[in-house]
Amino acid sequence: MSDPVRIGLLGCGRIGYMHAELLSRRVQGTTLAAVYDVFSEAAASVAEAYGAQHASSAAELIEADDVDAVAICSSTDTHIDLLVEAAAAGKPAFVEKPLSLDLAEVDRGIAAATEAGIGVQVGFNRRFDSAHRHVRDRVAAGEVGDVHLVRISSRDPDPPPISYIEVSGGIFCDMTIHDFDMARFVTGSEAVEVYATGGVRVDPAIGEAGDLDTAVVIVTHANGAITTIDNSRRAVYGYDQRLEAFGSAGMACSDNPTSATASYWDADGSHGRPLPYFFLDRYIPSYEAEWNAFVAMVHGGPSPVTLADGRAPLVMGLAAWASVREGRPVPVAEIG
Ligand SMILES: NC(=O)c1ccc[n+]([C@@H]2O[C@H](COP(=O)([O-])OP(=O)(O)OC[C@H]3O[C@@H](n4cnc5c(N)ncnc54)[C@H](O)[C@@H]3O)[C@@H](O)[C@H]2O)c1
Repeated sequence: MSDPVRIGLLGCGRIGYMHAELLSRRVQGTTLAAVYDVFSEAAASVAEAYGAQHASSAAELIEADDVDAVAICSSTDTHIDLLVEAAAAGKPAFVEKPLSLDLAEVDRGIAAATEAGIGVQVGFNRRFDSAHRHVRDRVAAGEVGDVHLVRISSRDPDPPPISYIEVSGGIFCDMTIHDFDMARFVTGSEAVEVYATGGVRVDPAIGEAGDLDTAVVIVTHANGAITTIDNSRRAVYGYDQRLEAFGSAGMACSDNPTSATASYWDADGSHGRPLPYFFLDRYIPSYEAEWNAFVAMVHGGPSPVTLADGRAPLVMGLAAWASVREGRPVPVAEIG
């Protein structure tokens, strides 16, 4: 058996804290060696909770001899600088989505990682959700036949704070970006055109921040398949995540799991349990599985979610914004 991969965690916010728990307690084959956050208290609390070293800077963590690989889970606008530092140190890196909101920055990160020859995995965890993966596997095995349509519903239970919305890149680059990744993953085909519309139906403050909270996107793929995506920042019944591929030989679906299988029946019918509240309730097994894949990559395997897989959905997100602004379908090639 290989030695555990000693991971240095950069960013100890909402997602970083969860990854710290997984890396130190749940994932086989990793230890949490060190943590760093510009907000020192956040890193101190993770270091104390999980017995990791508290590095005094990102550079100290990345260059430490007892850190084999880095997990970049900080705010989006810091990802590429930290990836470039990891590349300079020759350390494999996990980078949360989105890689950046700026394509030129993404390309700078790709160039540095490629030149250094480091393995990089992008944090599109939904690829590791067993139900979503089932749809993709049925498609890849030809069991759906020629894929004609993919349908994705992705609705959050509540919007994030306006302070997050303001720096998030907006709904298409922050939220729909997971669905753009799913569209490519399930069809196995690149997007050629994106046609998007949206509105502010949940909270006027989201509109005042220049964003949308309700959106529909039509993606046309190179193989002719068409994906439709619908998003809302507020589904009152919980975290709604459904995916369907429809083709010449059948249909494959990934439906919502309920938070428990208990139900109650009366004269009005059945009353099930609610949906999981949000991503930390629904997707933990997928985050754990993405770390298992990361460990395999560090031990010499291929990247399961490459930098190219990180770049393509950002291009689709930028195309969706151009589509809304200009009221027309936007060829992906126009964006990059
Ligand atoms: N894959 C997913 O399901 C998923 C879910 C949530 C967030 N994310 C992504 O993870 C990233 C973080 O999101 P979050 O919700 O945890 O945000 P957050 O604001 O809760 O946490 C970000 C943390 O990064 C720290 N930070 C900022 N600059 C830093 C630097 N240079 N070095 C180290 N730490 C730094 C901040 O102090 C903060 O503690 C974002 O890119 C987000 O899009 C992914």
